[in-house]
Amino acid sequence: MTVNHRVGGSSPSQGAIFRLTHAVTFDSASPAAPRTERTTYQERTAWIKRADDNKVTIWHRLQVILARLIPLTLLRPTVPRLGAPALLGEAERLHLFAAKGFWVPTVLHSSERELILSDEGQTLKMALDGTPDISTRVIMLEHGAVMLARLHSAQLAHGRPYTRDLLYDPASGKVGFLDLEEDPQARMTLADAQARDIWIYLCSAARHLDQDRGRINQLVQVYLQSRGIPLPTPLRTLTRILRPLRWILSTIRCAGMGKDVKSAVTVNAVLETYLTT
Ligand SMILES: Nc1ncnc2c1ncn2[C@@H]1O[C@H](COP(=O)(O)OP(=O)(O)O)[C@@H](O)[C@H]1O
Ligand SMILES: [Mg+2]
Repeated sequence: MTVNHRVGGSSPSQGAIFRLTHAVTFDSASPAAPRTERTTYQERTAWIKRADDNKVTIWHRLQVILARLIPLTLLRPTVPRLGAPALLGEAERLHLFAAKGFWVPTVLHSSERELILSDEGQTLKMALDGTPDISTRVIMLEHGAVMLARLHSAQLAHGRPYTRDLLYDPASGKVGFLDLEEDPQARMTLADAQARDIWIYLCSAARHLDQDRGRINQLVQVYLQSRGIPLPTPLRTLTRILRPLRWILSTIRCAGMGKDVKSAVTVNAVLETYLTT
């Protein structure tokens, strides 16, 4: 097996509440082999994911505390499985998503210690980063919102649909799903998991849209119209509970505020406009 280059889950994730998910890890294992990397398998480009026994992050511990302070199931940590069960669970979910007709990598090989997946090209984040025109980025993100709506209509949830965990085909505008390791439905109801998906997706999208409320609202509209539903109740509850905090953060908006916090503040300000409807 030839190792080409290293890509891991260490880049900061988006979303204020979720921002530390992968940023700080209790990394007691030797850093010998990267967790996720491009490789060659049976003479074709593929990706290998290795079991990670150390995936409990400071953020997951913080989430436990936060979930106790704010009694919302959708704030529950969603990485209960470590090591082998996580990979086997991911393989299972990849099969399930594929069976329901969604674009996901093909599982070429799976064992307790590693998963080998077909290479599916670029992520939505890569495609957005390479697109200077914001109107085009809106269209790309609308494709993502439609696909998320379809996933939810199929009674599924992703768990953490950051733009770097979605696939994008520039030729067709098709969006797919990556990184299904977290199983949100093991920790919360489907409705909560889907509300969380929408919130994470919008927070992730906000940074590609220059924090523009109108454009973020366009994505909310596209999602709701695709599903033919009003804003889901758990998302309303989350928005209502976070409103005082959002208001304080908007008021003290300072230069040092991280992008993740800014995105969450902007997204929540947009979602608040739905509370009266
Ligand atoms: N099958 C694949 N096809 C294309 N890119 C992939 C594939 N699997 C992983 N990647 C790349 O590796 C990154 C990390 O993979 P991911 O499945 O999200 O694992 P992690 O748990 O390490 O975040 C992705 O954001 C993407 O850039
Ligand atoms: Mg990932």
